[in-house]
Parts: sequence; structure tokens; C-alpha cells
Amino acid sequence: MENNSLKAIDAIQEAQKIACAPFVFQATISLRKLGIFSLIFDRRKKGGITIDEISKELSLSTYGIGVLLEIAESSNIVSKDASGKFELTTTGYFLNYNETVNVNINFTNEVCYKGLFHLDESIKTGKPEGLKELGNWDTIYEGLSQLTPEVQKSWFEFDHHYSDAVFTEAQKIVFRSQPKTIFDIGGNTGKFAISSCKYNDEVAIKIIDLPGQLNVALANVKKEGFENRVSGYEIDWLKDNPSIPTGADTIWMCQFLDCFSEDEILKILTTCVKSMTDETELLIMETFTDRQRFDNAKFILEATSIYFTVMANGNSKMYPAEVFLKLIDKAGLVLKEDISVGEYHTILSCKKK
Ligand SMILES: C[S@@+](CC[C@H](N)C(=O)[O-])C[C@H]1O[C@@H](n2cnc3c(N)ncnc32)[C@H](O)[C@@H]1O
Repeated sequence: MENNSLKAIDAIQEAQKIACAPFVFQATISLRKLGIFSLIFDRRKKGGITIDEISKELSLSTYGIGVLLEIAESSNIVSKDASGKFELTTTGYFLNYNETVNVNINFTNEVCYKGLFHLDESIKTGKPEGLKELGNWDTIYEGLSQLTPEVQKSWFEFDHHYSDAVFTEAQKIVFRSQPKTIFDIGGNTGKFAISSCKYNDEVAIKIIDLPGQLNVALANVKKEGFENRVSGYEIDWLKDNPSIPTGADTIWMCQFLDCFSEDEILKILTTCVKSMTDETELLIMETFTDRQRFDNAKFILEATSIYFTVMANGNSKMYPAEVFLKLIDKAGLVLKEDISVGEYHTILSCKKK
């Protein structure tokens, strides 16, 4: 309701910013790719750089640099002094140098930008209608191992960025019960399995994933020399009656369940319960929308939900924790501990009822 208190002149400015947001976004992409941001930053100690100087250094037209910097200045990405010298603002600095912004920009541009055009169709059909811009699959997960190198790089950097950094802290929780066998459901590229083999000398890990992803994960495991401790199990959770082996001390799911609708999550958790003993611990690590301290973290999660709608599968999202707590109970699990990890993540530790 905050918006209602805006004066009309400010509200129209906000509305026009949104109307032209793709122009600002693509201008930013060009300023990054063409090296203009970096050059402006490098010249900061000389009091900035003019359009003519940028033009000479980068062999680009003054016209081209001019149109990009005009909109960047109005968007508070660069500033210009009286002698026409440009510098990066703090926002401009983050757009070129902040790691999380970098990962988000590349993911938005390479993976989502073209597909987002089909969002309204996805809302109507419940299918990821934008995915056809990348390839001919029912979900993006079937195509992960076949994406073009640039798109694949951006997808994996985005995925890894939001889990790698907390693995070490998460592993303290995973290994406090000294599990001998862990099932890593949605193990993706094998990063968690490999780092867990390094973390603990005895643990055996079974990665459970789609065939394409499993091949990639097991190849990475082999490169690291852990093929004797890491095995694989192929599954497609969207098929009827999926099942997983028994024998896990711990079932680990990191940023996995958000790839599914509520009904599908219930099916996955119920299937896991069938393979669990009373001692098995099931650990779910997620970034929940209602557990974020910073507004911009919540905003990124909301954008990620739109990616799920239009690109990934058409029916999943980033969830508030309360949805998971309800599904855990419905699946026959009981929540034993609710642990906050790092700035953004939560681990839900569950046992069979
Ligand atoms: C977002 S990634 C999880 C990444 C990893 N756990 C991490 O923390 O970085 C989701 C994983 O779920 C797998 N997945 C998605 N849909 C699936 C399905 N229908 N059946 C089996 N696995 C699936 C994907 O292949 C991918 O490895």
C-alpha cells in the first residue's frame, strides 16, 4: 500500500521505469560486454573519462557510446561532471563487479530474457512456454546437459552461487549424526557429493537424479577420484510411482524441492518416507521467501519463481517455509529441527512419524 502514498509525478516515473526496464537492462548488458563500465572504472583516479576518449580506446562510435551512457546516467548507473567525464555510481560499480549481481544478470540475460516474452502463455497453460527459446524439452532439467555453452554456464553459475557458499556450514549439520550413507537427491553436478567426500573420509553417497545430469555428476566424481564412494541412481520424479532404494542414513535435498509443484513435492516426500527407517534423517535445505532478512533477497526469490513458471517447469516456485511444513506433515514426516544456515538458507531436519 506504500505505493498509494506516492505523488502522481513520482508514481508515473516509477511506471515509466518499469515500462522501459528492458531498455535499461540491455543497455547495462552492452556496457558490460563492450568493456565500457570497466574502462570508466579504470579511469576513476583520473577524474573519469569522456565519450570521445572511450570511443578512441574501444574503437566504438561516439553515437553508440552516447546512447548507452545517456540512459545509464538517467538510471543513476553512471554520473557525468561538468566537463563531460563519466564515472560509475555505486550502482554502476555493483552492476559490473558484484558477484551476486553478476550471476543474476547473466542468468536473466542468457537463460531467461527471450523466454520471458511467453510468460502470459505460461500462466494460462501451466507449462514453461519460454523454454522453446532454448530447446525442445518438457522441463529445463531434461535439457540441462544439452544447453549451449553460454546458457549452460549462466544456469550452473546461478545454481551453484546460491548453494556452494553454504555447503561447509551445511555439512556440519549433515555430518553431526555421522552418516555412513547419504542419498543426495537432485545432486546435479556432484558438487555436494564431491565436497562431502573431501569433508569426511568414510561416507558413501548415492546421487539420485535424471539420467543426463547423473552422467555429468558421475563424470565429475570420477575426475576427483571418488568413484568408489559415489554411486548413482536414475530417476524421473515426474513419472508415475517413482521409487528410491533403501539404506540411507541421511537423505539430503538442497534447492531441489522448489523445482516441483506442491502435489509433486508431496509425492517425492512420501516416496522418501517409504525408503526410510526410524533412524533415517531427511534434510531439506531451501531459501524460503518468508525467511529473508533483506528485501532484495526476497525480490530475487520472487524473480526466480517467474523463471520456474516460464522457463523451468511451469508449476513450481520459491516457497514460504509454511508450505513445506504443511507438506512435511502430510507426507508422514515430523519436523525435528528448523535451522537457519548462512544469511539466506534454512535446513529442515525431519524423521519418519
Ligand atoms: C536446482 S538443481 C539442485 C542443485 C543442487 N542440489 C544444489 O544444491 O546445487 C535441481 C536438481 O533437480 C533435478 N531434477 C529436476 N527435475 C527432476 C526430475 N523430474 N526428476 C529427477 N531429478 C530432477 C535436476 O536435474 C537438478 O539436478
